[in-house]
Parts: sequence; C-alpha cells; structure tokens
Amino acid sequence: MAVPVIIDCDPGHDDVFAIWLAAGHPRIDLRAITTVGGNGRLEHTTYNARVVTGLAGIAGVPIAQGADSPLVRALEPAEWIHGSNALGGPELPEPTVDADPRPAVELIRDTLDAYAEPVTIVATGPLTNIALFVRAYPDRWPKVREIVWMGGSTGRGNVTPYAEFNSWSDPEAVVMVLDSGLRFTMVGLNVTHQALITPSVIERIAAVGNTTAAFGVELLRYFNNSYEIDQGMPEGPLHDPVAVALVAEPGLVETVHTRLDIELRGTETSGATSVDLIDKLKRPPNAHVAVGLDVDRFWDLMIEAITTLA
Ligand code: BDR
Ligand code: CA
Repeated sequence: MAVPVIIDCDPGHDDVFAIWLAAGHPRIDLRAITTVGGNGRLEHTTYNARVVTGLAGIAGVPIAQGADSPLVRALEPAEWIHGSNALGGPELPEPTVDADPRPAVELIRDTLDAYAEPVTIVATGPLTNIALFVRAYPDRWPKVREIVWMGGSTGRGNVTPYAEFNSWSDPEAVVMVLDSGLRFTMVGLNVTHQALITPSVIERIAAVGNTTAAFGVELLRYFNNSYEIDQGMPEGPLHDPVAVALVAEPGLVETVHTRLDIELRGTETSGATSVDLIDKLKRPPNAHVAVGLDVDRFWDLMIEAITTLA
C-alpha cells in the first residue's frame, strides 16, 4: 500500500526532484505540499512549487504557503547555490496550479484530519513550518507517522564548516520538533553527498525525453555549476529526494537510532548537528539518523519516477 505523505519544502533545485519522486513513485501517495522560506524567499519557493508541479502534470495536490522566515533568526536565502529566484537555470513557465488559501500549518492539520491512517511528513527545508505545526496542534501528533527531514550531518557542514544549510537556517525549529518526541529521521549530508549528479545521471534523465526530464536537466546543470563554484564539487549532491527515497523504499537508506542534538549558540558551529554515534553521552536516543545509501537504486527510483510524469 502507498504511504501517505506531505512534503514541506523550499524549492530549490533538489526540492523539485523530491516533489517529482514523491509524485511519481508508486509507493508514495503525495497528499499535500507546503512551502517555507529557505533556499529563496517564500514568494519564490511557493511560486516554484506551483511551476514544477504544473509542468510535471501533478494534479490534485494542494500547495500552501508557510513561514517566510525562521522562528527567531533572519532568513538568509541560499542564493549562492540556487540563484536569486531559488530556481536558477531554466526559464520558468507560468504556473498552471494555484496556491491553496490556507496557511501551511492548517493544510497539514486538514490533511491529517482527512484520512484515517497516520501520514508521513517529509521536510526538505528549514523545519520552521513543522515546528509551528507541532506547537499549534499537539492534539494531531498521533496522526503523524513520522517526520523525515533532509538536514544536518553526522560530520561536516556545507554552509559553515560544521553546519548544514537547513539546520543552520532554523536550529530552534529543529529543537522544537525533536522535543515533541514524534518519530524523527534525519537524512544528512553524510548520506546525501553520495547521491552525486554525474554526467551519466544527467544523460539517463535526458534520455527519458519528457517535459519534466528536459526541465530537470537544465536544473541539474545549473546546480552542478553552483556546486563547482561554491563547494569545489563539479558533481553536486541531489540531497532532498534521498529523504523521499527512504520513505518509498525501506532499506534503501540505512539508519541508526541514536542521540541527535543541535548547536544553538556556538561561535563557529551554530546550527551544527551533534550525532552521538558511539553513545558517548549516554543520553536517550531521540532520532533515526541515516548512515548509508544504495546509490544505484536511488537513481533508478528517481529516473523511474520522472518517466511517469508529463
Ligand atoms: C539542503 O539545503 C538546500 O540548499 C537544499 O535544497 C537542501 O535541502 C542541503 O544542505
Ligand atoms: Ca531544500
């Protein structure tokens, strides 16, 4: 049976592929998309979500706008990777999908209420919306099966030496979500940096030959160029869909149950995740943390999903 999923995202090149994987994979039932300020300002991330669902022929999935900035910090959009509109590269067609008038937290609440079975939330941006939802609707917590988040790292970072962008953008939100005790899975850079956009991956996507694939190839070329300039990586990592793949195909991403904490006040390490893989601190485990990825299978899933789209 397909797993019901809400995607909370900040598209963003790799967020787009997360949406497409969720929409195109037979074991995922994509029920709602919510947007947050992150890679770009909220007006851009919402607009981009509308554009990339419409062009891929994804219909009947409401898209609602959430928080425009982190809980207590100022938003610093990742323009150095994603460009000034968060989706540099291709010319964006006019969106054919309207935004839902409800705020993101209300769409999350209503989506949970609409179905009998618990729903998985896959978050691929700063956790601001999810923290606001957790605070606003504790009575709905039993309806959340799990929160799977692309963010953090068991090792080094990407926006500072030790902090990953989503985690660094809104670390207070990560604390609030962890404190809820909801089942939480972190898919961090230690794993997403294996999902590299090689020339062969780009060739395989181009060969799909549909509108989604052609647009996707333009996104990947821009993204790889940004990664080469900013991180010295000519083959960029397609982070966000790895979190969707974990839900779509259990076993594709290996996880361990461990202790996750986040640095709020470090002078050099603000937003860094601390993952106690050797149980040094003897604190109770509070998260499932990704430690391995079946890279070949991941790309097969991604390409199969694109094949099913427009
Ligand atoms: C994360 O930050 C964003 O730039 C990407 O969309 C991804 O969610 C990687 O650090
Ligand atoms: Ca993202």
